[in-house]
Amino acid sequence: MRMRRIPWAADYLTTSPSRILDPSKLSGTWKDGLKGKLHLEIGCGKGGYSSAMAAMYPNDRFIAVEKNESAAGLAAKKFDEAGAPNLSLIYGDGADLSLWFTPGELDVIHLNFSDPWPKKRNAKRRLSAPGFLKQYRTILADDGQIVMKTDNSALFEYSLIEFQNAGFVLEEVSVDFRRESHDEDPLTEYEEKFVQAGQPIYRAVWKKGQA
Ligand SMILES: C[S@@+](CC[C@H](N)C(=O)[O-])C[C@H]1O[C@@H](n2cnc3c(N)ncnc32)[C@H](O)[C@@H]1O
Repeated sequence: MRMRRIPWAADYLTTSPSRILDPSKLSGTWKDGLKGKLHLEIGCGKGGYSSAMAAMYPNDRFIAVEKNESAAGLAAKKFDEAGAPNLSLIYGDGADLSLWFTPGELDVIHLNFSDPWPKKRNAKRRLSAPGFLKQYRTILADDGQIVMKTDNSALFEYSLIEFQNAGFVLEEVSVDFRRESHDEDPLTEYEEKFVQAGQPIYRAVWKKGQA
């Protein structure tokens, strides 16, 4: 699904209080004064998931990353309207994570309905490709977790294999996550559409495991 262009997004992003202009300046300090966990959502789209999570878990801190300008503009607006002190946006590419976080700084990484990039020549762009997994391993705490949800069975299978190859340990797996109610986990914008269409939601949780 192609994102429609939002003409005000570029200007909005320059002044949005929720947007962190230079995340590398906060490297190593994201958890200062934080009682709970530090979460990162990569590819947050319009930001509904992180926004709902921040309201649900006020002691945790949520950083959402989005590289598409229009989606990032919509997420920034949503975050500003929510005004939650524990919610911020990085308008940037998840490939740059290592510039923004120090080793072991993150507790949870969320990958929600990531672009599947079905063609082999684009496999490196998948957020569960080996290049990304290497970075996740570095910036995650030893007891850190990665939580993935998708509607795409091919991406899910690929991810199960790549996470195992990278040494992550599978903790939970479901091939129909929404068959039961999960009030602790909000629906993302994409997920809402798939659930309404009766499509199963695949979900897995990995812990970092030994290197
Ligand atoms: C299919 S959408 C899903 C959006 C949202 N997570 C949801 O479930 O509603 C995937 C989003 O990930 C973003 N994305 C893909 N690769 C990214 C990357 N390397 N860094 C940041 N965002 C990325 C895309 O721009 C897009 O907005």
